[in-house]
Order: sequence, then structure tokens, then C-alpha cells
Amino acid sequence: MNLEELCEIASICTKCPLHESRTKLVFGEGPENAKIMLIGEAPGKNEDETGRPFIGMAGKLLSEILHHADLDRSQIYITSIVKCRPDGNRKPKKPEYCTCIDLYLSKQIELIDPDIIGLLGNSAAYALIGKKNIKQTHGKTYELKGRKYMALFHPAAALYSRALLPQLKEDMVTLKKLLNPD
Ligand code: URA
Repeated sequence: MNLEELCEIASICTKCPLHESRTKLVFGEGPENAKIMLIGEAPGKNEDETGRPFIGMAGKLLSEILHHADLDRSQIYITSIVKCRPDGNRKPKKPEYCTCIDLYLSKQIELIDPDIIGLLGNSAAYALIGKKNIKQTHGKTYELKGRKYMALFHPAAALYSRALLPQLKEDMVTLKKLLNPD
């Protein structure tokens, strides 16, 4: 199965309650052979309307942060731990993200096989590597089941608290340095 086929299956998914509030599935976007995968928490309003990840204010800031690290969004596969927007922008619940990770995200990771996975914010870091305190874990790398992960602040957190932005930029530069040489 390829990403397109997996996305088709996900677009009619009813395996968790989040499908009830879905306008469009936000499966993820980026090259199938991306070396970097970035994983956020959940689609927001703009993403739900368009089906594209990180296109609101947080997405704009993410592009800026990538640019700072001399990276371009087009090189990166961007997705979230759940593919449907939780109503009222609440955090996804454990059964919701566990189901979504099991059915879709784990297969996306397998197919893309990135050098490094950046986990944006506490929700993604906890769901994938069991780390709770992003203030302590950001910028560090973790190896789990043969995969390399780094936790970073979520760009939305840096929108609310601009003091986090320099650290987020620095962590993205560190993440880039972890890529395997060509
Ligand atoms: N925030 C996320 O975590 N994911 C998106 O797709 C958009 C905003």
C-alpha cells in the first residue's frame, strides 16, 4: 500500500468519534521520501476546511522556523497524531490518537522512513515517545524501536509565548544537523 491508498482509506474512516466533526480529512502532505517528518497535535479550523496540515497562523510560523533552519516545507512530510479536527479545538483523547496512530500514522512513518521525526508539542511527544514535559525534553533526541525522534515546542505555543520562538528555531537547526549525510 502507498500513501495515496492509505489516505483514501482514512478519508472514510469512522473508527473514532472524531470523524463526526470532520469536514475534510487532514492526512498529511510532503514527499513520500522525505528525510524529515514533523508531527503535530491535530488539525485546526483552517486545516479541517482545506484538508491541508499547518496552513493557519501556526503553519505560517512553522514555515518561517523551517526557513531559519535553511529548510523548505516542500522537503518535509507534515502531519499530526490525529487526522480529523476535534470539535472546539480540544486536545485529542487517548483512544482517539491511539487508534489513529495504529491505523494511519505508524504506516505513514513506515512508508516514508524518515531519518528523523520532529514531534511538535506535548501531545505528539507524549503519544509517540511517552515524554510529558516539553520544557525539559525539547531539543533532545530519543531512539525508539529503531527510529530517531526529537521533541520541539509546537509553533502554536510560540505564537502565544513569543519567548519560546528562539528556542524553537534553535531546535529546528539542531534537528537538521541530525539528518544522515547524502
Ligand atoms: N496544529 C497541528 O498540530 N496540526 C495541524 O495540522 C495544524 C495545526
